[in-house]
Formats: sequence, C-alpha cells, structure tokens
Amino acid sequence: MTETVDLTKYGNRSYVRAVLGTQFDDMPQYVDFLRRAGEEVPATAADRGTHRPENKPLPYEYYLDPKYVPEEIEKIWKKKWQVACREEDIPNIGDRVAYDVGPLSFLIVHSGENEFSAFWNSCRHRARRLCGSKPESGDMVQCPFHAWSYDLKGQLAWVPRHEEFPSANAEKFSLRPVQCDTWGGNVFINPDLEAGPLSEALGVMPSHYLDCPQEDRYTAAWIRKKVKINWKSGLEAFLEGYHVLTTHPSGMPIFGSTYTQTDCWDDGKASVSRLITPALVPDGWVKDDVTPRLALELFCNTYGLPFPPEGVGKTVGEARAYAAKKTAELHFNERGVDFSDRSISYLVDMHQWFAFPAHFPWWGEGLSWWYNFTPLGDSPDECVMEIRWLRPIEKGAPRPPLPKCVEIDFHEQGRDYPETGQVGFIMDEDMENMEEVHRGMKAADPAVARPILATEQEIRIRHFHEAYIKAMDITL
Ligand code: FES
Ligand SMILES: [Fe+2]
Repeated sequence: MTETVDLTKYGNRSYVRAVLGTQFDDMPQYVDFLRRAGEEVPATAADRGTHRPENKPLPYEYYLDPKYVPEEIEKIWKKKWQVACREEDIPNIGDRVAYDVGPLSFLIVHSGENEFSAFWNSCRHRARRLCGSKPESGDMVQCPFHAWSYDLKGQLAWVPRHEEFPSANAEKFSLRPVQCDTWGGNVFINPDLEAGPLSEALGVMPSHYLDCPQEDRYTAAWIRKKVKINWKSGLEAFLEGYHVLTTHPSGMPIFGSTYTQTDCWDDGKASVSRLITPALVPDGWVKDDVTPRLALELFCNTYGLPFPPEGVGKTVGEARAYAAKKTAELHFNERGVDFSDRSISYLVDMHQWFAFPAHFPWWGEGLSWWYNFTPLGDSPDECVMEIRWLRPIEKGAPRPPLPKCVEIDFHEQGRDYPETGQVGFIMDEDMENMEEVHRGMKAADPAVARPILATEQEIRIRHFHEAYIKAMDITL
C-alpha cells in the first residue's frame, strides 16, 4: 500500500456532518458520469427506466400488524412468480428441495430432462410435509409418515393397504401442482394456476441479461440469514445506495454510491427496477480525499487482484481500465471464461436488479450476487435473507459442486462463519440496521408512522410500495 487514508472517520457521524456538507451541486448519475469520462456505456445501462412510480410511502402498520400476514399470503405469495431455488440445488433428475415462504411450503422437483415441477408440499393422505429442510433424491417421493408414494410428476403411485382407500386413485389424490418455470438458472414458482407466464412477470429484465446469462453461473457461496425484521423493510435496505455513507463507510473509497443511477420499469404486469453504482470512483462524499490510485489499490486488495505496478492509476479511467483487465484475466485463469471483449462497466461496476416481490439478481462481474427474501412463518417480525455469490462458468461447462448453505441464526453474524468471507462482512454491516429499523417502526409516533423517500436514491422503494399497494389492493 503506497497511500493511506483514515477510513474510520467516514463512519464518524460528527465528521460527516461537519466536514462533508449536505448536498452536491453537480452529481451526475452513472451513465452521465461515464459519458463525461469518455468511457464506453454498455447498452443495458444506457437503456433507462420508463416508469416514474407514485410517491405513496407505505405506512409502518403494514410491516408490523399481524393481520396483514394472511392477506400477503393470499395476495402476494399465492399469486406472484417467485424464486424457489437455483437449478444447481437439484442438479439430477429425482433431486428435490422444499421452498418455504411464510407458513407455505412447496416441493420443487427436478422431474425430467431439463424439466422442473413444483407442488404444494403436503401429503394427500394426512398432510405431512413431504420434503423438509434437507434436500432429498430418488425416483419416488415417499411420505415418511405412512409411505404414500408419488412419482416425480406428482402422480400418486403407491398406497400401502390400498384396499382400505377405495377412492385414493392417481386422478384424485396426486400431488397438487403449482406453476413452475425457469429463467437464468433460477427455478420460479407461482401457486396461482391462472396467473400469466413467468416471462410476463420479468418484464424487460431478461432482455438486459442476454449478454450476462445467469444460467452460466454456479453458486460459489451461499448464506441463509434469519433476521428480525419484516421481509419488506429487510429488502428495502438493499433497494438503495443512500445508506452507504454511514452503513458501509469502508466501501466509499472504491464505490461511488453518490453517482448511483436508478431505473424502474412497470407495464402493469412486471415491476422491475435496477441500480448501478460505479466502482473505482470514490464516493462523492470522499472524492477530495481519495486519489484514483488509492481507490485502485483498495479495489485490488478487496477483489484479490494483483497489486497495481507503480505509476498505474493516475486517473479514474486508468484505474478502472486496470481493474477491469485484471478482473477479466482472473476469470480466464480461474475457469477459462473469456471476458476480454467486455466493457469496464460489465467487469467492475455494481448492477443490481430487483423483480417484485422479493428477488435481486445482479448483472456483470462487479458484484455477482443474488438475494432473495421470504417471510418466516406467520410472523410479520421475522424473515430470511438468502444470499448467493454466483460466479461465471463457460457455456455448458459442468458446474462445480454446490457449497453447503451457511445457515445463520437471528443472534449470529456472518463473521461467526469465516467461510462467508467478504459477503458475510458486508452482510453484517447491513444487518446492524435491520432489527433497529423494525424496532424503530414500532417506536414511531402513530401520527407520523410512515417514511419519507428520496426522489431518486429511494425511487425503487417508492416503486416497491406502489407494486405492493396494487397487489394488496390497498387504498391509501
Ligand atoms: S401423511 Fe403422508 S402417508 Fe400419511
Ligand atoms: Fe448495504
């Protein structure tokens, strides 16, 4: 390290307040920033959102009152396309897992060649959940209670003492299917058999992923974190970069959160949004303190890239070009994936998407993460955040074995599990706010128990609220 800066001061609220001021006169959003810098703008980033959501912030009662839980189950979790698992979780025919969302549970089965099926995870005899928290495999789904057995398409295939169940035939007593489809290596379900196809629910998103196929990725790290917060406020914390200033101060020298671009699309069927934040561009709050060279050194350290030779990184453009080149080399050396023709933006920046109700795929290699949120049980106070690190593989190459999912309980942190590495560290920073947000909602004066949302930096939360209000059929 040739340069140093005291990063801790950015986590000091007094310093931030006194030294940095409160607003910027000139803070271009991502694509404008790239254009000014004379850098290639990827077509996907230049394709801007077409939807301006209404400004109707959702009152806190919807996050707290248990009476809304059954309503959400009926109107959202039983009606919307949602990610149940990744294909690599059930790589072989006969493999299956449970997907739990609130009190609901679904059985996801690799049921044939390139075919996945999903069912209500409930035995037709006396209801026992067929698949529990452990993945299972085999050519029959056999209930552990009395051994009723179903084939991989859910057809009732065997009933012990069948003579005592004269009406229990496959036509009437097979597993009850739900809609199941895949996109980008993700298995989606929709319990509503009348709902439109998955493609409708994803809107413009797949067209932006044509050059970043999520199916050509494998799960390199996998975390499931239980959190004491409502699922909605849990995911809202990831819809904006506005919290970086005090929540992720150590990231400010290398990620320019103040240049974040936000985009929303909504055609009435799909509610999707995106944020893009540049890397190797010091955040607006610290731009006078951090040289491009320092940003580059920190970036290389964080991402395990070779330390830049002396003299490299005098300008932001040079630092970004070096980091992108080394990122492409890293992927080529690791798994033979050739990214040599990719834009700097693709290789180093953060491009995060969101599809209502609760899925976050990321685009590019800057942060190739994947999040999914689900409510836990019948409680409005608990949810599960699932995080994966999806690394690229060559088209059609076999995926490396799935790592064990690190299950992190309410009271535990990512740093309790060293194998979660950088992902766990950043997750911990976000988790510091979670329980306190939920408690703060309960502590709010009922006369003002709703948020105020920024016009651009929090526009995706406005959009999320708009989609939620519509799905729940609420009049505010
Ligand atoms: S509950 Fe499944 S076989 Fe009895
Ligand atoms: Fe965060």
